[in-house]
Amino acid sequence: MAEPKTNESMEKIVSLCKRRGFIFQSSEIYGGINGFWDYGPLGAELKRNVKELWWNTMTREREDVAGLEATIIMSPAIWKASGHVDTFSDPMCDCRKCKKRFRADQLCEDQGLALTKDANGKFIFPAGTKCTNCESTDLTEPRPFNLMFKTYVGPVESEDNVAYLRPETAQAIFAQFKNVMETARQKVPFGIGQIGKAFRNEVTPRNYTFRSREFEQMELEFFIKPDEAVEAIHGSVVTVPETGHPGEPQPNWGWQAWHQYWVEERVRFYEGIGLARATLGFHRQTAEELAHYARACVDILFKFPFSKRDENGNVKGDELEGVAARSDFDLSQHARFSGKPMGVFDDELRQAWGKLPKEKQDDLWRRYYENRKRYLTKSGVEAEAAGKQATDDANGLAKGQYIPHVIEPSAGVDRLILALITNAYTETVKTDDKGKSETIYTMKFHPRVAPIKVGVLPLLKNKPELVAKAVAVRDLLRPWMNVYYDDGGSIGKRYARQDEAGTPFCVTIDFDTLGEKPELLDTVTLRYRDDGKQERLKISELRDWLLARIR
Ligand code: GAP
Repeated sequence: MAEPKTNESMEKIVSLCKRRGFIFQSSEIYGGINGFWDYGPLGAELKRNVKELWWNTMTREREDVAGLEATIIMSPAIWKASGHVDTFSDPMCDCRKCKKRFRADQLCEDQGLALTKDANGKFIFPAGTKCTNCESTDLTEPRPFNLMFKTYVGPVESEDNVAYLRPETAQAIFAQFKNVMETARQKVPFGIGQIGKAFRNEVTPRNYTFRSREFEQMELEFFIKPDEAVEAIHGSVVTVPETGHPGEPQPNWGWQAWHQYWVEERVRFYEGIGLARATLGFHRQTAEELAHYARACVDILFKFPFSKRDENGNVKGDELEGVAARSDFDLSQHARFSGKPMGVFDDELRQAWGKLPKEKQDDLWRRYYENRKRYLTKSGVEAEAAGKQATDDANGLAKGQYIPHVIEPSAGVDRLILALITNAYTETVKTDDKGKSETIYTMKFHPRVAPIKVGVLPLLKNKPELVAKAVAVRDLLRPWMNVYYDDGGSIGKRYARQDEAGTPFCVTIDFDTLGEKPELLDTVTLRYRDDGKQERLKISELRDWLLARIR
């Protein structure tokens, strides 16, 4: 388990990332651009591995999830329907004295204070809030700043042509919900997964790549039946404990069980790539923190070196992923704004409804009606129209129709990369016989995510037989994994280079490989990164041995 580390170690990590080619500042030769980062050779491989593992776990290895790859720029109507045009903003303020700009909530938080809202929803600073740069209390009022990047589609820069770079990948999933469901021949419950770029014009990007302006998300929208439909079909809705994995999905699960299931599935995913549970934290959003349409949201946190400590010295962590139960809000919004139906027909529900006693029908009808009416009135639909629409919706339920609810596990690729890097980073001080000490850096990545899986090293580069054999081993492994061939410098130096890159295994081709000891012909020395232990392995067994450990 990684110990909580300090900001000092963060500086060392940033420096290693640059030195070894994990992460570079974007546009560095021009002085950089705040909030944008590039991934170097090792970072690009690490990222690719993480995305592929997410994709395989969340889509390919499941019967009930299909994939999507949508465009970054979509109809601006999508962002109106989702609420992003009107409400996707952070409170911003400026110091009148030193002119520094802040995110007002973070400015308060950094001083142990909390930004509040007045009765009209206007942000107000608590007494004593000051500029953390110059200590002045002369701050502008916090004002909302929309985080979406704006652009124009086509040659005319007019309001009619405004479009946005997507601030999340989720909305494309909702907009394509019907197309995916039909073409993938899925039925609720099922999910749609997507990995892709998202853009937010963050007021103050910070903590290295943690809060960037361009980043990637891995999002699943998992569509489920409303609880009233589950109850109509199965008699009741099962709820599960708020801790622990609830097991294989069951037909009588309501939103709460599905939500808990996805929280735990995601934790298993993190554990499977080397983030032990003890390095994670959880934050269950309070009623005040939840969006008005959300039923619950659990943030999965990681204890980053920069994560703050509470009054007892414990590190809670910072958000890696949010797992939200978003009710039927998203599809309902798109149905209202696009005028296209987003509901599904469920024959099992229609048949079950017909067999229910009248009181049960009335009870379910009324609960569904009330939920729909609440959603509609909160979304600004006038009371009479909302009542009429909710009546239609509840009548629809009785005929087997509903708008699916959704559970959304939404993860940030870049935050996960940063978590994996800080988790892997290990320093050891080695002292030689003469008392000289040096610091050794090892990136202890889980073999599944490690950028390079195996280093192939000929013992000497001036012995053509050794080199030929090493090249043959490299070529044998290359179609299956990322291999790094290295013949430069002493073997110790080469091992150290691979340790810093996080390569879990190295194989050395030596004279025994060539048959100096006949019983060792066609074997290699296999060295483990984490403890330096070595063993002998047959070349014929090498590929499968490695595959068993890196998959
Ligand atoms: N569709 C829901 C959604 O986008 P979010 O909590 O705003 O929810 C989900 O974002 C995840 O995306 C976060 O948990 C985080 O990992 C990542 N993320 C969000 N903003 C980010 C930023 N500015 N830089 C890097 N990652 C970010």
